[in-house]
Amino acid sequence: MTQTSIGICLLGCGVVGSGVVKLLREQRELLARRTNLAFDIRHVVVRDVAKHAAGEGNLPYTSNAAAAIDDPAVQIVIEVMGGRDPALAHIERALKLGKPVVTANKSLLAERGPELFSLARKHGSCIAFEASTGGGIPIIDAISRGLVANRIDALVGIVNGTCNVILTRMTRNGWSYHQALTEAQKLGFAEADPTLDVSGRDAAQKLALLSGLAFNARVAEKDIQIEGVADLQSADIKFAGDLGYVIKLLAIAERQPDGRLALRVHPTLVSKSDVLAEVSGPFNAISVYGHALGHALFYGRGAGQMPTASAVVADLVQTAIGVVPLAFKKLNIFPDAAEPAQILPANEITSRYYLRLSVKDQPGVMGAVSQVLGQHGISISAILQHEVAEDADGVPIVPIVITTHRAQEGAVRASLKQIDALSTVRAPSVCLRIIDQPKEFA
Ligand code: NDP
Ligand code: HSE
Repeated sequence: MTQTSIGICLLGCGVVGSGVVKLLREQRELLARRTNLAFDIRHVVVRDVAKHAAGEGNLPYTSNAAAAIDDPAVQIVIEVMGGRDPALAHIERALKLGKPVVTANKSLLAERGPELFSLARKHGSCIAFEASTGGGIPIIDAISRGLVANRIDALVGIVNGTCNVILTRMTRNGWSYHQALTEAQKLGFAEADPTLDVSGRDAAQKLALLSGLAFNARVAEKDIQIEGVADLQSADIKFAGDLGYVIKLLAIAERQPDGRLALRVHPTLVSKSDVLAEVSGPFNAISVYGHALGHALFYGRGAGQMPTASAVVADLVQTAIGVVPLAFKKLNIFPDAAEPAQILPANEITSRYYLRLSVKDQPGVMGAVSQVLGQHGISISAILQHEVAEDADGVPIVPIVITTHRAQEGAVRASLKQIDALSTVRAPSVCLRIIDQPKEFA
């Protein structure tokens, strides 16, 4: 059987790029059998050609991205460099030449998606971005094509592998935050700048992409309320455990009855009986609630070399056989066609809350705290008082953990401001959200 050659320019050959090379080599025969195509890497663009040439591979390395992209023997450009510059200029160059781009770069798409998709459309090209969210899980394909007949009401997901490695290690193995982050970096899960991971921004960028597709709206990172894991304390992981919860960094998008979107990323207490509680290490899971389908869970490795390469190569094949170009042309679901999302202000988002107060060991403290919460219409669900400890000045303090029924973020924030100003409160209170799914969405 004759095979048509598809020339590829690979921009970047780090964790993901080297996985793409490996997978294309390992599965060359299988891909040829399945597609009648031969995927040929014509250029591999890196910063440091000498460093790569000295290693294994025998690949066509170059640092001249423009010449590599322009080469008429290149039909598809894969961008796995990451970051904004020079990735943005390279993608624009390829699109202007009418060459389809496959990218894993969620930060760039979250920032510049609408312009890039519009540029692609103008030049009869397209962008495939399955690897940008959920690593190897085909969640973009599922939302944009598999669930196309559903009105999606909510997405709830663990979408950052690095944070999930950190939380899993801290919870199950008693590791320190820094020890766990170092492991995630060593395994190639973290971004080049890991503050993107631990600040929650990477998860928010992914949520922006997913919710844009799910709700047919233009969603930007700034529309999302974001808290990361960097300030999470092991005491809260332990207290959450005592209450029957584990803490996960969740990305949550909910459609309100009036059509506005409530979008947030934050450490969240998830019941130990919830399927998301079992998602550990670099695994991701995304719960999707479609009106016809009901609840579906997409689970798999959300970061790492080969899982991500699996998604990139799938996009490459779908692009080469015409599926991505056709979907891009025919489906009105991409951010360039969408109106800006109507966003529910963060203060109006409702949730259940976990509050940890550090108070003096004296009578009347709980009365004062409950009075403040009551004034703001916040109803207490449970109170847990722990043994007396001492603060840094040797003053006896009592950690009190309160869980609430559903309350508005604004009311909780206002209460905590008042509570922290009480003379009996020794340290700023900790505030985390609790999610009880699937009951909440069922
Ligand atoms: P790496 O840092 O491991 O690799 C980046 C590659 O891009 C390197 O080969 C580097 O060259 C090259 N590069 C960077 N800047 C330039 C430049 N200015 N000129 C030429 N080459 C350059 O990143 P990853 O592979 O981890 O990530 C790549 C992309 O994939 C990112 O967008 C990331 O968000 C995304 N992603 C990553 C996942 C993961 O698990 N790691 C999972 C899903 C998505 P050199 O080697 O010479 O320095
Ligand atoms: N840094 C990202 C993560 C890579 O840890 O999830 C996958 O997008």
